Amino acid sequence: MSGDRIAVYPGSFDPVTRGHEDLIQRSRAFADRVVVAVAVNAAKQPLFTTEERVALLREAVRGPGIEVQSFQGLLVNFARQVRASMIVRGLRAVSDFEYEFQMALMNRNLDPQIETVFLVPAFDLTYLSSSLVREVARYGGDVSQLVHPTVDKALKAKFGT
Ligand code: PNS
Repeated sequence: MSGDRIAVYPGSFDPVTRGHEDLIQRSRAFADRVVVAVAVNAAKQPLFTTEERVALLREAVRGPGIEVQSFQGLLVNFARQVRASMIVRGLRAVSDFEYEFQMALMNRNLDPQIETVFLVPAFDLTYLSSSLVREVARYGGDVSQLVHPTVDKALKAKFGT
């Protein structure tokens, strides 16, 4: 049936980067709807609150078929709740692989109906991560090419830089 292929793209998004934005747009090639799912408890001490992370995502990734929600608890439960048949994750490097593979197999174990799909990010965004963006921004470095202008502003406000 057309019009109902729903993908969940989960993460901490602390904060959303150009790398995440790229993957969300790429997901639209095979999903009619992409539900970006912000994990409430993913990082113990996130820089941005859940509400801030959701608001920044909504600024950065507006577009048809894209929505942003937060979720608590198991990802597969949330995926079922929004009737998603796929979980999308990005694979940047070999270092991502083991964790991602474990997670995909565990999620399949929890719900065999939901398929995990790995996407390769744009070449020039491959090195990018939220933790590096936070670190550079914390010490006043320029991350304006790596994040949406609203996120850049929010980082400057957070760190007083
Ligand atoms: O961006 P991150 O921090 O790598 O995202 C990790 C995330 C949020 C996708 C993962 O921690 C997760 O799915 N958390 C929800 C709880 C859950 O379902 N855990 C079991 C996964 S096997």
